[in-house]
Amino acid sequence: MSRCFVTRELPGSALDRLRGEHEVEVWPDRSPPPRDRLAEGTRRAAGLLCLLTDPIDADLIAACPDLRAISNYAVGTDNVDVAAASARGIQVGNTPDVLTEATADLTLALMLAALRRLPEAEAEVRAGRWRTWEPALLLGRDLAGAGVLLVGGGRIGRAVARRLGGFGCHVVIAGRGDALADLLGDADVVSLHCPLTEDTRGLIGAAELDAMNPTAVLVNTARGPIVDADALEQALRTGAIAAAALDVTDPEPLPADHPLMGAPGLLVTPHVGSATHAAREAMADLAVDNLLAALAGEPMPHAVNGADSLRGARSD
Ligand code: DGY
Repeated sequence: MSRCFVTRELPGSALDRLRGEHEVEVWPDRSPPPRDRLAEGTRRAAGLLCLLTDPIDADLIAACPDLRAISNYAVGTDNVDVAAASARGIQVGNTPDVLTEATADLTLALMLAALRRLPEAEAEVRAGRWRTWEPALLLGRDLAGAGVLLVGGGRIGRAVARRLGGFGCHVVIAGRGDALADLLGDADVVSLHCPLTEDTRGLIGAAELDAMNPTAVLVNTARGPIVDADALEQALRTGAIAAAALDVTDPEPLPADHPLMGAPGLLVTPHVGSATHAAREAMADLAVDNLLAALAGEPMPHAVNGADSLRGARSD
């Protein structure tokens, strides 16, 4: 039996399986543990099950001599210093596949909501401003037949592309190394599906937003820092693009008084791409499977640092 620290209660019964085999401490609050409590909980743990809101950096890893497994409850692992974990021979796991369809669904919902101006439309009705049907009231743009640029052709990007096929969209997928500047101007919608890395941080900045069509919509369901928030605010205010639908922001949450919050054409949701009962319970199952495997001395079923990156550390 090993000690495990889990940084939040999870949906479903997956944590019961962990409790059945190990001594488990679960952080009880709805907010992430502050740094000192995260460090305290992890210090004597062999297994850590953490969330994307928990920064697992090199200092924290160095302060946890018994740590053998970090299981992230997310497909993205940009909150974990994977290189520092690998150097210590610590397996790091994630939760791919099970959230792909849910995230792709939300991406389509955001595209449609932004193109058809749903937040404005709903606000009109709720405020009692809507008087009668009018030929030119709240005109938007069609997704059917639109040109859509997907930045990132991984699982979620491809799932979005499949859906857009049903809308008759002209889909272009930009992968690593493709010149975005040549592609942005042709798109009615630009949707981001790449991981956050040092290469993609700030990928969409002032120059990229200027290169977009003034009627275009930017959608981000990936990670906030891929978009330069100040440049986006300017682009929305000057009309360089028509709208932005963001499920992820930088910072996250976006404070109510953040300048971007008041920019015209902004639609923002609270990082709910994978927020379906089925996806979040399946993520919990994968995260627990990863932890149980690593604590049993086996490879995680979904490790982001494979045997090759751990081999050197283990032979030290
Ligand atoms: C992830 O998994 O990386 C998402 O952002 C949350 O599900």
